[in-house]
Amino acid sequence: MTQFRAAITGIHAWAPDYLLTNKELETMVDTTDEWIMTRTGIKERHILKGEGKGTSDIGTEAVKGLLKKTGTSPDEVDLLICATVTPDMQFPATANIISDKVGIKNAFSYDLNAACSGFIYALETGAKFIQSGAYKKVVVVGADKMSSIVDYTDRTTCIIFGDAGGAVLLEPTTEDVGIMDTKMGTDGSGRVHLHQKAGGSVKPASHETVDAREHYIYQEGQAVFKFAVTNMADVSVDIMKRNNLTSDDIAWLVPHQANMRIIEATARRMGLDKEKVMINIERYGNTTNGTIPMCLHEWEHRLKKGDNVVLAAFGGGFTWGAVYLKWAYDGSK
Ligand code: UT7
Repeated sequence: MTQFRAAITGIHAWAPDYLLTNKELETMVDTTDEWIMTRTGIKERHILKGEGKGTSDIGTEAVKGLLKKTGTSPDEVDLLICATVTPDMQFPATANIISDKVGIKNAFSYDLNAACSGFIYALETGAKFIQSGAYKKVVVVGADKMSSIVDYTDRTTCIIFGDAGGAVLLEPTTEDVGIMDTKMGTDGSGRVHLHQKAGGSVKPASHETVDAREHYIYQEGQAVFKFAVTNMADVSVDIMKRNNLTSDDIAWLVPHQANMRIIEATARRMGLDKEKVMINIERYGNTTNGTIPMCLHEWEHRLKKGDNVVLAAFGGGFTWGAVYLKWAYDGSK
């Protein structure tokens, strides 16, 4: 039987126009541009404005662009997975809504929630459908409208998050490119440090939950920071070791953009110069499932066939993981 690898054969991403700057945040909560830059590395974030707009609108822009630039007809798509923590609604899945909006009709589609690690979890999942030989074209979307669950009176979280998303096309290849190895982890005991208190089955929405502001992100920043620094670096170093990769072998690290200090610590542990690290946190903040595809899209024109690329993430759950892949094509499509 032919052995397939799953390769990313196209990438597109999209962020809304509105820019929420540190200067504007200074007028909303007790904070300063200097504090935000020093502690997080974030200068501005994109925010999706407009009544009735949700994560599917971000995902739809990304998928439309992806299909166009890869010359893929919606009819050819077999499966669409959307990683998100801010679905349009509890059900149906945002993946179903995106599929409808872009005209994907011959596919099945579903959402996947692994917080900030969702995009690489979804990539791992989509890749397995390709490797098995079952499907030929899988679209993996990572998108979030984080502004829909951010409390803009809480200075410890509102400075971090933004809205954006991206999508990749996975296709089978018999060449020596594509997803080579993955390592994922979960520790659900970490949920106490980062979660959304109400709106789920344990605590459905009520007047009380709204009054107590429990439909927003709750984060114990320092605790999450410690786990994030350790786990994201450990998993990235592990995947290097088990694939006999030295820092010289790696062309690019694509880290989840949660905090500049976490990104720098991971790069340091991997022995990588900053020039090899995709970083755009300054302009987008933490867009949760959007960070990694947003980076890949921005750096697409500099990627070359055969480049060794490591994707790494850490997020609520806790969840974390790393993907080692060999990039499958030269430059922008
Ligand atoms: O992507 C999902 C995973 N999430 C993460 O990886 C996030 C990990 N955590 C972090 O990135 C950081 O912990 C934060 C950016 C959230 C916070 O940075 P920190 O260096 O850990 O700050 P801190 O929470 O220890 O707060 C230090 C001080 C506190 O004041 P006191 O108690 O020392 O007087 C905070 O009240 O800074 C204060 N503070 C602020 N001051 C100005 C907290 N937020 C702000 C703010 N502006 N926005």
